[in-house]
Amino acid sequence: MSPSISLTLNGEARDIALDDPRVTLLDLLRERLALPGTKKGCDRGQCGACTVLVNGRRVNSCLTLALTLDGAEITTIEGLAADGTLHPVQEAFIENDAFQCGYCTPGQIMSAVGLIAEGRAGDDPERIREGMSGNICRCVAYHGITLAVQDATR
Ligand code: FES
Repeated sequence: MSPSISLTLNGEARDIALDDPRVTLLDLLRERLALPGTKKGCDRGQCGACTVLVNGRRVNSCLTLALTLDGAEITTIEGLAADGTLHPVQEAFIENDAFQCGYCTPGQIMSAVGLIAEGRAGDDPERIREGMSGNICRCVAYHGITLAVQDATR
């Protein structure tokens, strides 16, 4: 019999049977639950493209076994604007041109939301860059990303 987990995903209670107990949260989201907003970059915890919030904390979903998430509350990029209204961090990314190709953007935004919720963003660019250092942007849009986090923190 397949193991199963019960969790809250973007505000909705879900019971999920895991066909493979080794499945990561990232693969579960993208391949089973039709939530492709969370991106797969390195698949080994180095780029941050797969960042989601688990119980309000930032995690790399590629390093998180879904089996460990029974009872957890998970928020993905799709959950930020579930009612069709952009989250203030999403608005700030648009206003500050905080992306180029956009591939890393969902992870950057989720990381920024988590950082701000942790109260660790502040207004200091160095502090923001350090707090966002787990999220790599290969287009090097870091200036705009930092401005966006500053804006969203105010
Ligand atoms: Fe998870 Fe790169 S895909 S950190």
